[in-house]
Amino acid sequence: MIGVAVLGSTGSIGLSTLDVLARHADRYRVVALTANTGVDKLYQQCLAFRPRLAAMADTDSAEQLAQRLRDSAPEIEVLAGEPGLKAAAAHADAAYVMAAIVGAAGLAPTLAAVRQGKRILLANKEALVVAGSLFMQEVQAHGAEVLPIDSEHNAVFQCMPGNFREGLEAVGVERVLLTASGGPFRTRRLEELAGVTPEQACAHPNWDMGRKISVDSATMMNKGLEVIEARWLFDASPARIQVVVHPQSVIHSMVQYTDGSVLAQLGNPDMRTPIAHALAWPGRHSSGVAALDLFEIARLDFEAPDLQRFPCLRLAFEAVSAGGVAPAVLNAANEVAVERFLDNRIPFTAIPGVIEQVLAQVTEGDATTLDGLMAADRQARLVAEQQIDSGI
Ligand SMILES: NC(=O)c1ccc[n+]([C@@H]2O[C@H](COP(=O)([O-])OP(=O)(O)OC[C@H]3O[C@@H](n4cnc5c(N)ncnc54)[C@H](OP(=O)(O)O)[C@@H]3O)[C@@H](O)[C@H]2O)c1
Repeated sequence: MIGVAVLGSTGSIGLSTLDVLARHADRYRVVALTANTGVDKLYQQCLAFRPRLAAMADTDSAEQLAQRLRDSAPEIEVLAGEPGLKAAAAHADAAYVMAAIVGAAGLAPTLAAVRQGKRILLANKEALVVAGSLFMQEVQAHGAEVLPIDSEHNAVFQCMPGNFREGLEAVGVERVLLTASGGPFRTRRLEELAGVTPEQACAHPNWDMGRKISVDSATMMNKGLEVIEARWLFDASPARIQVVVHPQSVIHSMVQYTDGSVLAQLGNPDMRTPIAHALAWPGRHSSGVAALDLFEIARLDFEAPDLQRFPCLRLAFEAVSAGGVAPAVLNAANEVAVERFLDNRIPFTAIPGVIEQVLAQVTEGDATTLDGLMAADRQARLVAEQQIDSGI
């Protein structure tokens, strides 16, 4: 039995992960579960999976969970706050850790798992966006194994030669082609974008995801964050990464080789495929996802991204090229702007403006240490709040 800790188990990726794990109950044992404030969901998951440990970032929520488990499952240890999340990530009985907390909050717990040399199933792209260089150094230093869960990076991983860590040029890889659906507003009239609601932004045409990543898909910041993620996962310079809009979301990404070959990974848009792939790798097992019906799909379309419509993609390319603390600043400003949009405090079209202003103002910081990166993150959040409060 392989022990698995699921960080962010109450979210969209967390639920898909538990679904796949339950299909292979003879192979995996759920060891730890974590959430932020979702007491009801985590309680139900504790009863169903009987982990050794349950942790909640929010202390009051952890107390409520502990109270409810006292009678029904007293053997489950309940912990709170970041130390609790780290304990779940580093649990001695977990060989695999699904890192599916949303946002920069996932970085410290995921690093705790990396430092124990575990197999990391990495959904929390923000960890690599904020601290890519540092994160990959820690992976190497501790002999951890990172398998990408983001469908695009999982697809790239599947299309890469086994020896890609020798360097992309050395193994004949010309470019990484990241596909993007273009989100719900790909063809919406530009003048209508200012009035779109959070519900419209979260209604993704192909994928059912958490609210933050859904808004990121609508602004295409999600693709920007994925460009940064690919930069670190595959040691690919930004010039080697191309974004290809592919509205059907059937090809999840591609790798172009120097001999003219392009390898692609296809599948129905369901995150259980990359989750099952990363769990079973280098083998394969079922995921619950239906087989792809190419006759039903019938056609595949491709477009270049429109950077005027999607300025967040341009900002992400600029941030990864600038390096230093810029990607961490970009991410923090985006998290604040998206939260405020979801709270109906700013219009959809204000999101890129907030990020651009913050990137212009927060330029200094030490990107070689976690403390330095987290200081830049805090400063960027502060400036973003100020920008929004002053009504830009
Ligand atoms: N959804 C997708 O299809 C998809 C695809 C590719 C990559 N990803 C990436 O996977 C990650 C998770 O996405 P998601 O869509 O599953 O998000 P989600 O549905 O919003 O779930 C987020 C999870 O993180 C927990 N959480 C939220 N804030 C936290 C905090 N401050 N500290 C600790 N835990 C916290 C939530 O707990 P509560 O329930 O208690 O709030 C929940 O368990 C993101 O980085 C996203 O970019 C997602």
